[in-house]
Amino acid sequence: TKTIAVLTSGGDAPGMNAAVRAVTRTGISSGMRVMGVRRGYNGLLNRDVFEMNLRSVSDIINDGGTALFTARSPEFNTPEGIQEAADNCRDMGIEGVVVIGGDGSFRGARDLTKAGIPCVGVPGTIDNDIASSEYTIGFDTAMNTAVEMVDRLRDTTESHDRCSVVEVMGRRCGDLALQTGIAVGATTILVPEIPYDFQRDIVDRMMFTQKTGKKHFIIVVAEGVGGVDKLAKDIEAKTGIETRATVLGHVQRGGSPTLRDRVVGSVMGYYAADLLYHGKGNRVVVMRGGKITDLDITEALNMTRTFDKKLYDIAHRISI
Ligand code: F6P
Repeated sequence: TKTIAVLTSGGDAPGMNAAVRAVTRTGISSGMRVMGVRRGYNGLLNRDVFEMNLRSVSDIINDGGTALFTARSPEFNTPEGIQEAADNCRDMGIEGVVVIGGDGSFRGARDLTKAGIPCVGVPGTIDNDIASSEYTIGFDTAMNTAVEMVDRLRDTTESHDRCSVVEVMGRRCGDLALQTGIAVGATTILVPEIPYDFQRDIVDRMMFTQKTGKKHFIIVVAEGVGGVDKLAKDIEAKTGIETRATVLGHVQRGGSPTLRDRVVGSVMGYYAADLLYHGKGNRVVVMRGGKITDLDITEALNMTRTFDKKLYDIAHRISI
């Protein structure tokens, strides 16, 4: 029997549990032993590893967060750390690892593969910032949570005839801001991929829509643009409209995963375990053209993201 392990690494994302469950069940039903690793790569360094059975992953598909816990592991990210993790895997009989996480976690998976332990990456992050995959597990839930939160802000913003400047997460990626901004009817969406002009894109737009009768405003700002406190002050000074800044923060990472994240997590988890079963490592499971497939990790890491400029333009065309 082959023994594989599964871990979640980096920021948690709703739907990671569905992926862990699918890896475990696919692995066991293929005749492999499946080990759960706690707290990402740290668990490989500390040997915080346990054997799972079919029931170890019961009742987690609906849970946010990750039942295996997670960590960002600077200790692992050194040549010594990688060597030690690989040695520990060999010692514990682990012949392959499924790594569920973002880009940083994939670099770790590539390095661990080089050190002799074949790994398969599964994209799990709320940021949707992995170039090789159209979709990352957790993105849908985070967007829906952000929309729900901004809807609440809208109630109070509207009651006071104010402007709300809302920062959403996404690291250097504007996807979460773009999708959320469209769904809440934001007057302006600021993303790191597209430079903006304060006067033209914020003040003039607000003034124009005010002339047509609009009295309250929502501006969605991606984390990669940031600076919402200063922006709110500048808007108030320039327009005379009372303005408040809100940073949504980590609430966007929690909550029960949506159908999409449960389904994509399940299918990607299945693919990852199946790749290891067939002796294929150094791969990442990705979504391309709406289909789940796999790519070489290094090839995947060398890809560059493209931002949906057309969607961004549409958003601004209709938010007047
Ligand atoms: O990658 C997910 C994410 O939530 C990003 O959107 C954000 O930049 C970062 O993680 C926050 O990291 P931490 O949870 O370590 O504060």
